Amino acid sequence: MAETQIQPRKKVNLPTLFKKVQEGKPITWLTCYDYPTAYLQEQAGVDMILVGDSLGMTMLGYESTLPVTMDDMIRHTQAVRRGAPNVFLVGDMPYMSYQPSVETAIRNAGRFMAEASCDAIKLEGGVEMADRIAGIVRAGIPAIGHLGLTPQSVSALGGYRLQGKSALQAKKIADDAKALEQAGAFAILLEMVPDRLCQLITQRADGCIIMSLGSGPHAHGQLLIYHDMFGLFPRFKPRMAKVFGEAGKVILEGLQAYVKEVSESTFPAPENWFGMPDEAYEELLKLL
Ligand code: KIV
Repeated sequence: MAETQIQPRKKVNLPTLFKKVQEGKPITWLTCYDYPTAYLQEQAGVDMILVGDSLGMTMLGYESTLPVTMDDMIRHTQAVRRGAPNVFLVGDMPYMSYQPSVETAIRNAGRFMAEASCDAIKLEGGVEMADRIAGIVRAGIPAIGHLGLTPQSVSALGGYRLQGKSALQAKKIADDAKALEQAGAFAILLEMVPDRLCQLITQRADGCIIMSLGSGPHAHGQLLIYHDMFGLFPRFKPRMAKVFGEAGKVILEGLQAYVKEVSESTFPAPENWFGMPDEAYEELLKLL
């Protein structure tokens, strides 16, 4: 079978991202957890990939992201990097890989860079995590903050719901964004906050890239969860996700067709197997 080559593409790096912001061009960012999907995202021209700890739910079938380990993250991130060598690759720091101390945070951020060739890491939390961001950045690792709906704190937040609805809650998120920016985060992801709050934070940002996930169009770019985009996560479909293609439906139909064809002996057909020349077959029969 002919091998499809990855099309040559210029490596996306920090200057590429900041240039897009300067030119007013929105940055594209998607989650990804495996080699074949990474290959497709690289081909499609996606700027950034997040190997999210959402893989705990989308790939491993856990109820939340909390059971995901650093080793889980490293294994998936390595596979994604092999499929997408030129995308700006972000490793998502899983639960308890950075909360205990600045040193733990730096060590685990370092694993993403050394073992999985990441370009940056992301971690959840506001001012209380600013010293983790500062330590990681001091270690020479680009860091992204994550505010609003932060799934690792889902219990404290009372569920997967809109954050920053009241003026006071919104002020806290805006203050957190400033604290992360001042700690050295080069970007901040705002997940599920009102569009006007996202717009305000984007306007107030000083050299920090603001990305939106379900937080409206007024950011420097957009992030979506790949499985939500293609109907691949059966448990629920968040409102913020647009379905760009019903891949889950197509795959299910294909699987049902396979079961039917094997059951009815219409698969495999001669083009799906390999014959043996008469001479070799006769010889084999003699040998047996
Ligand atoms: O793990 C993840 O995919 C994330 C997104 C929800 C932003 O952190």
